Amino acid sequence: MQDATRRRFLVGGAVTVGAALGPRVLRASAQAAPLKIGLVLPYTGVYAVLGESITLAMELVFARENWTVAGRKIEMIKEDDEMKPPVGIRKTEKLIDSDKVDILTGPVHSGILLGMRDKVHASKTILIVSNAGADDISRSKCSRWIFRASFSNWQPNQPMGAWVAKNVAKDVFIAAPNYAAGKEQLGAFKETFVPAGGKLIGEDYPKLGETDYAPYLTKIKQSGAKAVYAFFSGSDAVNFVKQFDEFGLKGSVKLTGAGFLTEPDVLPAQGKAALGVITGHFYTPLLDNPTNQKFVKDFQAKFGGKMPDGFACQGYDTAEIIVRAVKAVNGNTQDKDKLVDAIAHQEFDSPRGRFRFDAKTHNVIQPFIYVREVKEATGGLNNVVIDRIANVADPGTGCTLPA
Ligand code: BEZ
Repeated sequence: MQDATRRRFLVGGAVTVGAALGPRVLRASAQAAPLKIGLVLPYTGVYAVLGESITLAMELVFARENWTVAGRKIEMIKEDDEMKPPVGIRKTEKLIDSDKVDILTGPVHSGILLGMRDKVHASKTILIVSNAGADDISRSKCSRWIFRASFSNWQPNQPMGAWVAKNVAKDVFIAAPNYAAGKEQLGAFKETFVPAGGKLIGEDYPKLGETDYAPYLTKIKQSGAKAVYAFFSGSDAVNFVKQFDEFGLKGSVKLTGAGFLTEPDVLPAQGKAALGVITGHFYTPLLDNPTNQKFVKDFQAKFGGKMPDGFACQGYDTAEIIVRAVKAVNGNTQDKDKLVDAIAHQEFDSPRGRFRFDAKTHNVIQPFIYVREVKEATGGLNNVVIDRIANVADPGTGCTLPA
């Protein structure tokens, strides 16, 4: 790209003024057009720890780039969605209409993602989803402007149904919070659990943010289930896993679930109550690839020994995609077709393995879904890989890109 063209999109109207003032001033003003990245994440509430992990990992990548990409200073505009869809939608509108962000990321909550979707699509804002798994975003509600660097709710759970039926138990009770992600994650589990000979002994959907699981644990105890498969995350995961143990269920009922149940964001608070829990996820900080080893080392060095989790891996990948794609278009975020194309073609070594998007859906293809068991490892509790399933892509039913 010609230098003059590049400067024009970077500074917009400032080009005219810059041209009158001379090349040195022009270069200085060109640098003043920041790359604005809007974050819609929970910094309060049940999923606050998730929002924090995503943000810290993004900061780690941007700090590595000295907070500059293709000559543009990186500016993160963080908005707390408070885990409330109306708040998340309002913050999205503010970031798009007032802040005029170049790229949007977040959210954590599937309901917020579904609520943001039409605004993002209609305004042609590029959104790189850094957590929320709402399946429809890779299916009937897919959009050429939306990419997902995390997972669809289906991905970590669908392979686990058959695995649990074969390796853990046939009589299983399932539980998750009562909202889109809870229903979708357990639905994906059932998809392979029942055909593999599994029998659903019962299912329950406590409210998101429940603090007392006693009534649900009583039902599980009385059901005669041999195992439980659960999706809970953030403070819900802490409370469920601890109360499951306190209730005396651990001795007789095997606890299994989606990886979010025992991620390193909650493991220290769960303590030994989490020992032996088996979950499926695309990541564990124990993966022995060089990118992950460096990521874990750098993350721990920068953030006081904190262990990165899957959410941090998602933040890392989101930031890595932004840096690589913005470099590929020489900083030109105005030509959105080119930027979308650059994002779609990113492929790199991520802490989770080789990162690539599915061209059919713009959703990440998981190199592996790891079956992990919480054990004492590397001086504390961690998720140790005991099995793995390769190349897990969302079916993408109903998605026809470009949409
Ligand atoms: C979701 O709402 O999509 C979600 C939240 C926490 C962990 C995983 C998924």
